Amino acid sequence: MKKWMVLFLIVACSLAFTQVLNTFEYEPVYIPPSPQRLGGDPAKGFDYLTTGDYVKGGIPYNIFLMGMGRDKNNYLNRQGKNEKLSYEYTAVTAPNGEVLVAPNCLQCHAQVFDGQLYIGMGNSMIDFTQNEKLNVANLKRVESWLKLTAPRKYEAAKSFIDIGKTIAPYLSTEVRGVNAADRLAAILAAHRDPVTFQWNAQAQLDIPETVIPTDVPAWWLLKKKNAMFYNGFGRGDFGRFLMASNLLTVNDTAESKEVDTHMPDMLAFIYSIQPPKYPGAIDSIASKEGEIVYTQHCAKCHGNYGEKNDYPNLLIPEAVIQTDSLLYTSNYSNPQFIQWFNKSWFTTGDHPARLEPYAGYVAPPLDGIWATAPYLHNGSVPTLEAVLNSGLRPRYWSRDFNKPVYNYDNPGWQFTQHEKPKGRNVYNTDLPGYGNGGHYFGDKLNDQERKALIEYLKTL
Ligand code: HEC
Ligand code: HEC
Repeated sequence: MKKWMVLFLIVACSLAFTQVLNTFEYEPVYIPPSPQRLGGDPAKGFDYLTTGDYVKGGIPYNIFLMGMGRDKNNYLNRQGKNEKLSYEYTAVTAPNGEVLVAPNCLQCHAQVFDGQLYIGMGNSMIDFTQNEKLNVANLKRVESWLKLTAPRKYEAAKSFIDIGKTIAPYLSTEVRGVNAADRLAAILAAHRDPVTFQWNAQAQLDIPETVIPTDVPAWWLLKKKNAMFYNGFGRGDFGRFLMASNLLTVNDTAESKEVDTHMPDMLAFIYSIQPPKYPGAIDSIASKEGEIVYTQHCAKCHGNYGEKNDYPNLLIPEAVIQTDSLLYTSNYSNPQFIQWFNKSWFTTGDHPARLEPYAGYVAPPLDGIWATAPYLHNGSVPTLEAVLNSGLRPRYWSRDFNKPVYNYDNPGWQFTQHEKPKGRNVYNTDLPGYGNGGHYFGDKLNDQERKALIEYLKTL
């Protein structure tokens, strides 16, 4: 064999080898778009979101007001019975005419930030520790009181109370500020028939031990995305996922069908939400420098802003992203939930949805990123700077949930570092699902580049 042939073979082999590595391990995966039901009316969507009865069960109105007090802010300027309710609850009428208070999407998808309500900002203050949200003891107290004193109200609230008592014990997270919605979805699936949505008192699917914590993504990002959720597994019609909260209280699929008809409006509203503008002054020279750093190191995954304005919709494999793996690995270790969804009512009709798991995470758009700390899918990193410099990430950290302070100059939560884990108000990155490793792409930058980059990120 001639020398050049040997050389050629070596080169060819190594090319083939990198090809294999690339395709099977390191290459990002493009998410193609799915048809959506466009043309909805955003104003109607907002109305449905804040006053609609997509969650049909709840606690009797007067008992709720006694327990929670009357809300004085009326951030949403709602009328009638809703006027007295905090924005994350909606008054709905039960079939027997009684008025109930149901939780709405804004429990998790809105946050009061420096005295203003931001709809679509993930609620990073929520408390799922010790079942703060749906407390079994409280539900039992309400139940026995209603049975004794108000049988019609009991009749109206019974199914919500029963379901609440069943699911509440499964929903508690280790620390405050992270969300258990993925867990809630799994529990509801375990208790409902996929085709008829009939409620079963006994779980029909195995429910894993751990509650996987997530940080709620901002709604203003959805308009750029071809798939929903951190691991991009929400494919097909988005409306079908938007209505998933209805599973909490749904009676039958006729009801689901009705809720489904509102989803184009809901989607139009969500698509209309803009990220909040950075309120402070921006150093325009540093920001220009930062844009160059961004284009070189970040844009291929997160997309370009300004004139080029594009977003590549990429899934980044685990070997590259290296952030906490529990969220996506759970789909492989618990395929029963994926199977439930993929044979459910949600996959039927002319605008079906489906779940497609992937071992890695979507590289999200960074619009409004200055405002959405804590960062990463599990909210494990309190500041933008620490996302871009892994050496700065605190292992145990807390923020003041009563008087939260946001740092605008160096975007993120003002936090305290702790020596050891300490109770439910201290984020503990040692716990399974709460890890703060991975996304090391900013580590190679020097301090000046990183500072400039952060200045640029404030403009997105
Ligand atoms: C109990 C909290 C909770 C409630 C209530 C809730 N969500 Fe969510 N939502 C989440 C969490 C957490 C995620 C991210 C989950 C993930 O990606 O693993 C999410 C994801 C989403 C996304 C996907 C965003 C993206 O960029 O991928 C949309 C859209 C959405 N929710 C809409 C709604 C609507 C509409 C409602 C009400 C009908 C609702 N949600 C109710 C917690 C909640
Ligand atoms: C190889 C692709 C890739 C590159 C390059 C990359 N990122 Fe990311 N980025 C991701 C993925 C994937 C996530 C989601 C990880 C997770 O949540 O676990 C992410 C998350 C983030 C987040 C947190 C988002 C949130 O809402 O919590 C920020 C901020 C971020 N990236 C900024 C940057 C910046 C700035 C750069 C350039 C220095 C960069 N990224 C480079 C893929 C990438």
